[in-house]
Amino acid sequence: MGATTLTSPPEEVAADPSRIITILSPKGGAGKTSSATNLAVGLAKRYPREVVLVDLDLQFGDVASNMRLQPTSTIIDLARSWPVDSAQVKLSLTSHPSGLYTLCAPLSPAEADEITADHVTGVLRALHRSFRYVIVDTDPGLSERVLSALDVSTDMVMICSTEVPSIRGLKKALEALDVVGLTSARRVLVLNRSNAKVGVDIGQLERTIGRPVDVRVPSSIDMVLATNDGIPVMESGRNPELVRAFEHLVEQFVTDDDKDHRGGKPASRLFKRKG
Ligand SMILES: Nc1ncnc2c1ncn2[C@@H]1O[C@H](COP(=O)(O)OP(=O)(O)OP(=O)(O)O)[C@@H](O)[C@H]1O
Ligand SMILES: [Mg+2]
Repeated sequence: MGATTLTSPPEEVAADPSRIITILSPKGGAGKTSSATNLAVGLAKRYPREVVLVDLDLQFGDVASNMRLQPTSTIIDLARSWPVDSAQVKLSLTSHPSGLYTLCAPLSPAEADEITADHVTGVLRALHRSFRYVIVDTDPGLSERVLSALDVSTDMVMICSTEVPSIRGLKKALEALDVVGLTSARRVLVLNRSNAKVGVDIGQLERTIGRPVDVRVPSSIDMVLATNDGIPVMESGRNPELVRAFEHLVEQFVTDDDKDHRGGKPASRLFKRKG
């Protein structure tokens, strides 16, 4: 396979039927990384070696820790070797036993500032050419790098918790995205800790956000245990209710034709550009 430079035009992304799915929440601790890791593991079970999870929480990313990974290369190595080709991007990935690849965040928060918006879009486009699913975990808020990721995303998963600041924050974030014209990505709304009895009416939440909740993830100590163990619930299966919730999230990105697909594509597909 010939090396592909990272200067391909945006149309190439738009023409590709595969997905770049960015996970977003204005507030910290809403459940972005838990959702991103479980979505990625769930998709990788169906499509082994066709899913990559990118940790764009560049200062304090938790993907490596949440998945017990010890990366020898991270996104900072790509930024420092810029411009890079697709082969170099692939060499920076760390593999996970579920059949998933990850591009981990820098090991030191001090390195995060070296990564620009152009690095983000370049890396995501390169991965999009090689993988069926690119999942992007982000830091809280709408930083320039998060906006760059959204700019090339086909889908956006909004994580909201049952707290008023989280709901209000998400509403403001969506208004801001409308103002800057970032409206093309399909929007999926996840309500995390959905069963928390904290006096928030889901109908009111939906009216405030302006769309129905697509996926409800219940509150469970098993989520915290999974974070601490570094084994996502979609890998361990430790809580059937959580597994069902994340399976529902996975199904938001699987076409009807794919719903029975369980075995994935042959390993020879690995790292091959889609034709
Ligand atoms: N449904 C849930 N039930 C119980 N605990 C949860 C749930 N979802 C997430 N948590 C816990 O809340 C903490 C924060 O979750 P997570 O790291 O996924 O959030 P985040 O949005 O990525 O945070 P940050 O903004 O800091 O990156 C973790 O300890 C996680 O285990
Ligand atoms: Mg996180």
